[in-house]
Amino acid sequence: MINKTFPKKAPLKNAPAHAETSWEPVGNWYNGLVGQEGHYYHQRLILPGVMRMFELGKNSSGALLDLACGQGVLARGLPNAISYTGVDISATLIKSAKQTSTNKMHEFHVGDVSKQLSLQKRDYTYATVILALQNIEGAEKVIQNAMHHLGPKGKLLLILNHPCFRIPRQSSWEIDDQKKIQFRRLDRYFSDMKIPIQMHPGKGEASASTLSFHHPLSTYSQWLFNAGFQITKIEEWCSDKVSTGKQAKMENRAREEFPLFMAILATKN
Ligand SMILES: C[S@@+](CC[C@H](N)C(=O)[O-])C[C@H]1O[C@@H](n2cnc3c(N)ncnc32)[C@H](O)[C@@H]1O
Repeated sequence: MINKTFPKKAPLKNAPAHAETSWEPVGNWYNGLVGQEGHYYHQRLILPGVMRMFELGKNSSGALLDLACGQGVLARGLPNAISYTGVDISATLIKSAKQTSTNKMHEFHVGDVSKQLSLQKRDYTYATVILALQNIEGAEKVIQNAMHHLGPKGKLLLILNHPCFRIPRQSSWEIDDQKKIQFRRLDRYFSDMKIPIQMHPGKGEASASTLSFHHPLSTYSQWLFNAGFQITKIEEWCSDKVSTGKQAKMENRAREEFPLFMAILATKN
């Protein structure tokens, strides 16, 4: 049982205008990283996870709204008969999504998903926010938008960098030489945080950066509850990579103990 009360929170200090969270400045780089079929974790964990949690098969149908869709990687991984609407604030990523799209039932729009959307459709079967809610200021509004556009019993899937174990700048790996273990160190967790991330740390100050917004797990639960969703299922996904070399045993053990991603499936009441 999560035991936290929810006083009205003050907005994050120095919060940027929403457009500042766009991945437009790193759009070409991100597009190359994700490619046609997705990056490693899209392919190994995320796209199969979406199919499993929505119980989709080759012949499934319905309509899916993908909020902060990037360059449309999910669209390309869906069964053909599912109609798809992707919205992202980055014009470069939406352009790329359109260029690679071959399905006439897929559409892509430039838009800010933390504001009211211009979409008329209000009977989507599915909505997703994949690896993006933590890049958006005003994430509660994104959840409200999903509620607004889903039909009765519609399902929302949030895929997050694990909010308990992966907090940029506030979580790290350390080694305990006596116990011969690699452990996860957490410096902060319960506070909301706005954290800039350098995308190419080797370039120092010249590196483009994106923003990450940390919230504790109970905040996501509260937002879903406030919007009228019920949490149906939570999954936690570990990396399936395997280390070799001297530290392999402790690294592999640590990797199996600390999931990289959390997937929250919620259903419209
Ligand atoms: C890590 S990327 C994930 C994209 C995609 N879902 C994927 O899995 O490849 C985060 C995305 O959030 C988008 N984004 C950030 N703020 C946004 C906003 N306010 N409205 C719409 N999209 C936004 C960025 O432009 C970027 O494409």
